[in-house]
Amino acid sequence: MRKLIIAGNWKMNAGTVDAAVQLARGLVAKYGQTTAVDIVLGPPYTALREVKAVIANTRIALSAQNMYPKTDGAYTGEISPLFLKDCGCQYVILGHSERRTIFKESNAFINEKVQCALAHGLIPILCIGETEQEREDGQTEAVVEDHLRGGLAGLTKEQVKSMVIAYEPVWAIGTGKTATPADAQSVHAFCREVITGLYDRDTAETVRIQYGGSVKPDNAKELLTQPDIDGALVGGASLKVDSFSGIIENSGAF
Ligand code: 13P
Repeated sequence: MRKLIIAGNWKMNAGTVDAAVQLARGLVAKYGQTTAVDIVLGPPYTALREVKAVIANTRIALSAQNMYPKTDGAYTGEISPLFLKDCGCQYVILGHSERRTIFKESNAFINEKVQCALAHGLIPILCIGETEQEREDGQTEAVVEDHLRGGLAGLTKEQVKSMVIAYEPVWAIGTGKTATPADAQSVHAFCREVITGLYDRDTAETVRIQYGGSVKPDNAKELLTQPDIDGALVGGASLKVDSFSGIIENSGAF
């Protein structure tokens, strides 16, 4: 039985470290000891350490939003897995569509990051998903398969089982448009078919696959109770205690 994992990707939001700490405090007050679902917070780099201090000794985990796939060196402006570990991160979001589109990250580069994260004991949340044009062109499955093959290249079964995949259709991110639960379910099931082909059924049935893209309290239940959807990667609605709580409450896990 896969446990739901609900993660907040705060992106370049929350504004200040103080605001990030307030948000984390509000969530700790409600869910600090929750075990029914895994809860993960993904603040900007500069708030990681302070948010970690708030969630220390709770069941809530910390994620970074990106990482450079080297331990050190002349990479101005980048952050290594060692710094993320040092800040208390357990997870790192990799290959987000905003990284793929705005920063032109390739499958090969994302795969390097996934490998490096795993080698340093960070759990990758590998994001995959098609654009609106790709969906209209009937390319959804081809794109998702390409992102999975590229992102998982060279990984062992055990590594894949230990990580998290987030299916985030790009057209649903920040737009208020959500994939219908049936459409999302069908892509998640397809992801498991691809992983079965690449590895085996056991690996495909073990890895957790989140849905992301305009997840809100009022659509969370329908999405998160689909058989192949194992949680949510939440952007906008993760920035307020009430809306993130609403998603957790409506996840169907309680
Ligand atoms: P929204 O929930 O704001 O659509 O963002 C989704 C997302 O990109 C999470 O990584």
